[in-house]
Amino acid sequence: MYRKLTYLSVVALCLAACTSAPKSPQDKLTVNDKKIDEVIAQMTLEEKVNMLHSKTNMSSAGVERLGIADMHYADGPFGIREEGVPNGFQSAGWKLDSATFFPTGSALAATWSEELAYEYGKGMGIEARLRGKDVILGPAVNIQRLPVGGRTYEYLSEDPILSAALSLGYTKGVQDQGTAVCIKHFAVNNQETNRGSVDAQVDERTLREIYLKPFERAIVEGGAMSVMPAYNKVNGDYCSENEHLLNEILRGEWGFKGFTVSDWGGTHSTMGAMLHGLNVQMTGSNYLGQPVIDSIATGALTEKLVDEKVKQILRVRYAIEAIPDDVANTKMTSQPECQQIAKAVAEKSIVLLKNEGAVLPLAKDIRKIAVIGQNAVLKTQSGGMGAGVKALYEVTPLEGIQKRAGKDVEVLYAPGYKNFPGRRWGPAPAKANPLEAAAIDEPADKALLAEAVKLAKEADVVIFFGGTNKSIETEGSDRTNIDLPTGQNEVVKALYEANKNLVTVLISGGPTDLRQLEPVSPAIVQGWWNGTEGGTALAEVLFGDIAPSGKLPFTFPARLEDSPAFALGNFPDKTQGGDLFTLMYRADATQMSREERQRIIDAMPKPTSKYTEGSLVGYRWFDTKEIKPMYAFGHGLSYVSFAYGPMTASATADVVKVTFDLCNEGQMAADEVVQLYVARPEATVEWPAKELKSFARVSLNGGEKKTVTLEIPVKDLRYWNVEKNAWDLEHGKLQLLLGAASDDIRQQAEVTL
Ligand code: BGC
Repeated sequence: MYRKLTYLSVVALCLAACTSAPKSPQDKLTVNDKKIDEVIAQMTLEEKVNMLHSKTNMSSAGVERLGIADMHYADGPFGIREEGVPNGFQSAGWKLDSATFFPTGSALAATWSEELAYEYGKGMGIEARLRGKDVILGPAVNIQRLPVGGRTYEYLSEDPILSAALSLGYTKGVQDQGTAVCIKHFAVNNQETNRGSVDAQVDERTLREIYLKPFERAIVEGGAMSVMPAYNKVNGDYCSENEHLLNEILRGEWGFKGFTVSDWGGTHSTMGAMLHGLNVQMTGSNYLGQPVIDSIATGALTEKLVDEKVKQILRVRYAIEAIPDDVANTKMTSQPECQQIAKAVAEKSIVLLKNEGAVLPLAKDIRKIAVIGQNAVLKTQSGGMGAGVKALYEVTPLEGIQKRAGKDVEVLYAPGYKNFPGRRWGPAPAKANPLEAAAIDEPADKALLAEAVKLAKEADVVIFFGGTNKSIETEGSDRTNIDLPTGQNEVVKALYEANKNLVTVLISGGPTDLRQLEPVSPAIVQGWWNGTEGGTALAEVLFGDIAPSGKLPFTFPARLEDSPAFALGNFPDKTQGGDLFTLMYRADATQMSREERQRIIDAMPKPTSKYTEGSLVGYRWFDTKEIKPMYAFGHGLSYVSFAYGPMTASATADVVKVTFDLCNEGQMAADEVVQLYVARPEATVEWPAKELKSFARVSLNGGEKKTVTLEIPVKDLRYWNVEKNAWDLEHGKLQLLLGAASDDIRQQAEVTL
């Protein structure tokens, strides 16, 4: 009932607020400040402190007496997570909480479309509202620094400009539905190894230019209402008590007016958190509960500070309409409108890496297809820990192909190789599953291989599904390498010997080592973990109903050792630390006391991660060091070719502009993602060989030509001047490189800044 009262009071507050025109998206949050001060004045200290920590595993408290509703959170980022029991992540066993599974982060990023990111956020927002959720724990926007990163698939891109555009689109899409984002994980959260204790040591210029960018745009331009500090430390301090990140940059420079929520189990002290920028401890109250009251009693903290924190929470509480209990969860979470959004994103995310001899699209006269590989039947909605989704449905690649093939085309299937199920939480099954490998590097199973080869020989075309799964790429651990698991290379070689008409589809969230697979795969497609309608979208591309138009959001290195953090010996760090999240599971399961848990955390080694590669992340490194990757950042082919006409360029004090004609030289409609990079021939400070600064997705009918204009705001050309401790512009010549990929530059021009 009190949630209804809250709704009425929120409406009243909003009406009262309409008189003052807000200046920036963050300032919008302050429109109720006067009223909020009055409300806080009526609260007891206990009521206020009660808002600074978790109430349940996925909520923090309001004040019922004053009509202030609890804040309800939901993971994020690819679908509204299944309802858990109040005090843990175990399923609550609900019937109506099946959600739409949206394509995972790297798939969304492969669309290179801020508009699709907006739609995606909108879909997430719609479903969050149906579930009565106020805050989505997403988007997850950290830079993909390591190809092996356990959360590479959750994150967007290795490039800050691309990540920032998508992060902005997602944020606006969610918040326009009246739900808040909680953008995560702030900041420099690029590895799972030792994530609960690692100290990311990064220089200020790199921090600003690379790692903070995706957060900055969502907060400053998108008005992101809440932020989740990461588990790790940055330059010595835990993110949840990092003065530089939370107070100086987030609030001080970016004008953030909302509230911060520690990652689950990522609060480390009372004084640190209170003084250095945390609002809500998730989960538990051992730091931001009674100890806050005690610290006020001793004079170590002031009640004024508590008021300030409560105010920041209430700004969001009043901006987000609480959904009455009797309205929430009356409908299935997954909605057809959102399933269509998931499909639209999947359709534009699929990357055609290679297409020799035009194996794709599949010829119209094929009658028999051999689909080989367990990844063709793998459901990718669940697993991977926090980002798992209980999807209402998920079309697998095999189902998509079968449906599209229709009755005139026979689709044969064989598993080809064993699946690696990863580490198990529960007891081992009584009987070994013949389709599961005991080790990730187990060689190919002879019987499965023979069965697959037999089908390959019979078929007109073979589609091999390889890649990883969500036990291999998962939150909580990084991969030890990027090798294809369980003998997949051996299988694909044998298939190619049996039938040269072969397409490989990679179902994975991050890059894999393709050195063995590439020479025996005339066509290669990166198919991602592509959501509820992933199989449908993939079949549309394979059969040529639509042209592929995704572009790689990260580099596929040829060898893992070529990538920057590995080449410089920055990763892996040999010190073994601990995974907080795993510890939390263990603590729950064994009813470990808080004190014991803390003792384990304190005893963990203190590993570091040195970011000496600086801004040379991903393609910046490969280009600057002239190392040829397997597939470059931005790469992605189509079924048509695009002609890039001559480019004209101009520069004013505010904007650099290029204009050119883009022509679809093929017969079918297709999208091209045009990319504008800059290089600095006269640089006095260090720059990578080139950097992405603008891009656009352009849709063209067969034979159509369009004039395209790309703009780079001059402020995006600045660098962080460490001496001045400020953004600075280097004047002089700027080379503009326009192309279809970072290694496929079609037009060049020069301007002077
Ligand atoms: C993850 C977060 C997630 C939270 C709640 C943490 O382990 O790092 O991304 O939102 O759990 O599930």
